[in-house]
Amino acid sequence: MKLNVEQREFVEELLEKMTLEEKVGQLNLDSPSIVGGFDVPFEELIEMVTDGRMSQEEFGKIMATAERDFHEDDIRAGMVGAIMGNDPVKANELQKIAVEETRLGIPLLMGFDVIHGLRSVYPIAIAEAGSFDDDLMERTAKMAAKESRAYGINWNFAPMLDVARDSRWGRVSEGPGEDPYLASNFARAKIKGLQNNTESTENYVAACTKHYVAYSACEAGRDYNTTSMSTSQLYNVYLPPFKAAMEEGACSAMASFNDLNGVPCTVNSYTLRDILKDKFGLEGFVVSDANGIRECVTHGVAEDDGDAGIKALNAGLDMDMGTRIFYNHIAQAVKDGKILMETLDDAVRRILSVKVWLGLFENPYVSKAVIDEYAKALPKEHKDLCLEAAEKSIVLLKNENGILPLGKERKFTLVGELADRADEVVGAWSLGWEIDDCVSVKQGLEEAGAQFEYYPVCGPESDIDENELRAAIESDSEIVIAVVGEYKSMSGEASSKADITLPGNQQKMLKKLVAAGKQVIAVLMNGRPLALGWEAENLPAIIEGWHLGIQMGNAIAKVMFGECNPSGKLSSTFSSVNGQEPMYYNHPNTGRPGSKSKFTSKYLDAPVEPCFPFGFGLSYTTFEYSNLKVDENGDEISVSVMLKNAGNYDGTEVAQLYMQDVTASLVRPVKELKGYKRVTLKKGESSRIDFTLRKCDMGFYDNQGKYTLEDGLFRIYVGGNSKDVLDTEISVSFRNGEVK
Ligand code: GLC
Repeated sequence: MKLNVEQREFVEELLEKMTLEEKVGQLNLDSPSIVGGFDVPFEELIEMVTDGRMSQEEFGKIMATAERDFHEDDIRAGMVGAIMGNDPVKANELQKIAVEETRLGIPLLMGFDVIHGLRSVYPIAIAEAGSFDDDLMERTAKMAAKESRAYGINWNFAPMLDVARDSRWGRVSEGPGEDPYLASNFARAKIKGLQNNTESTENYVAACTKHYVAYSACEAGRDYNTTSMSTSQLYNVYLPPFKAAMEEGACSAMASFNDLNGVPCTVNSYTLRDILKDKFGLEGFVVSDANGIRECVTHGVAEDDGDAGIKALNAGLDMDMGTRIFYNHIAQAVKDGKILMETLDDAVRRILSVKVWLGLFENPYVSKAVIDEYAKALPKEHKDLCLEAAEKSIVLLKNENGILPLGKERKFTLVGELADRADEVVGAWSLGWEIDDCVSVKQGLEEAGAQFEYYPVCGPESDIDENELRAAIESDSEIVIAVVGEYKSMSGEASSKADITLPGNQQKMLKKLVAAGKQVIAVLMNGRPLALGWEAENLPAIIEGWHLGIQMGNAIAKVMFGECNPSGKLSSTFSSVNGQEPMYYNHPNTGRPGSKSKFTSKYLDAPVEPCFPFGFGLSYTTFEYSNLKVDENGDEISVSVMLKNAGNYDGTEVAQLYMQDVTASLVRPVKELKGYKRVTLKKGESSRIDFTLRKCDMGFYDNQGKYTLEDGLFRIYVGGNSKDVLDTEISVSFRNGEVK
């Protein structure tokens, strides 16, 4: 987000005219109140869902028709700066009030969660990051921005940039995995896609990077739990994607729920002002997460709402999501001298700047033509892009004796409730999809002309239907395709799990099918890495399908029958058993790296190695790496390797470059991803792959938050995942440790 001189002047002139109350109004992000359309009070409804008396699906249906109060009178009084929603007609109505019925006509931000598509839902982020395709990640964001504007949304609460290492945390599904470098590239791609198409106000939105910061480091993978870490870990692991997003001009950030080293991120001036605004250069604003300001009282750092609000604004939090604490307390706090007018002005200036940058003063409304266009069927190019993203996000984890791809003429038995659940392909945080747009795995297989019998047998929460299981066992096809995994409600917010093996009786179903002599191919539909020790050991083939979005069924069918050769890789490590979590590849070596000898860092009852490592993914062909070379060229290290497609299929490989700073003033990870390339080779074809590693990227942050480059020996690794790599070494000297 960059403002020109005229735009900056416009903001200053507007600020000059504003009363104290109007300034405070801009800091208020309202969500419409649920006011009726059902038989019990809303609080009772929430309790019914919480204690299981009502299913999520039932609740969703009620919410879709519930009556809402959009606080029109407060908007009219200039006391609302932003509101949440995804209905273009309602958005225009509310915008009209703000623009035509308030004294200064300041338009509203219309915020909504568009994490991986609105109606055109593409793969969840942990899956899409596994495409290692930055261009794809930008294009899907561009599609999401265009679609958002069509639904009246001009501010997306995305991208979610939480580097996550503990798969017990349900929100791993929403983010780009465990690696800071991949997450930073994901961040850049998403900000470009969401914000850069400014040729028309129908094509771009303000992004909101979240959850700032280190929310994913919640102790024990338990959502909202406390986080604590060294300054060097904060800078080296959790801040990089936010730094990258700010370099791309992200418009806003969302403060996270967690306390970091004892200070809740909602009131943390070190992370908000010193780092995000002063060091990383955020020009836009910071919004709290839902209820975040009030929760500072619960955290125990604020006496009451008013105290929490004052602490938040003074710490650099600019907008209040959903508590109205700023609305109720800030004006008085300014009068009492507890908040300086310049502090309030800075927050308002940041919010007005984003509204000006969005073009809302010139074009506040969604055109009828656009609303009508999107009311029809999904544009074909959206469907095609969702299919491309789904195909590139599929990871082939196992394929013993090349059992896959199947010939289309090959009869098989399909089992698993999830196979026929078109509503589950969209994954967590999908809030605008239409069931008619969603293709289940079963539908995809049918549309591909496959020959199979289908028996649901069991799902993530059901008992095994013994009759259906018997029928599946007695069917004459030896191949069983088992679609197993998680409901979308089992990952995402407030969905941490202590047991991340296949939920319910699904593994029991697999065991019975294997025991009956069936060749069982698992197709996983899941939001988090699962502990797959038993499956990896006992099944001949495993496809990681994640929640791939509306085109999931077609993508799985194309991979199943070899029309698409899978190229996806894992953006997150998979453990064999629960107790190995948190597990990630870029870990320190320790003084006693885990090995067979007793006194080393490992468990007595679990393997040292992960089930599937970061960056792992098979192809129907095989790729061979050879001839790794490194050369120093001034401020760069050139790395090259020969890659050969040595198998029988054309295919795409994600070649990965890692480095290790062997000896430094702080312990450094055994590997750090520093580059990757998607390389497509015909069968038998070879190619030399070149990487450039900039010396300025070979450093790390110390415990003073200072970026440092230290001369010494570096190991360079290249391969198709973080474990199976070629390696070499090079000694590097940095001209007086220049910093970037
Ligand atoms: C939620 C989530 C956040 C989301 C916000 C608005 O609590 O933490 O990711 O953007 O509320 O829905």
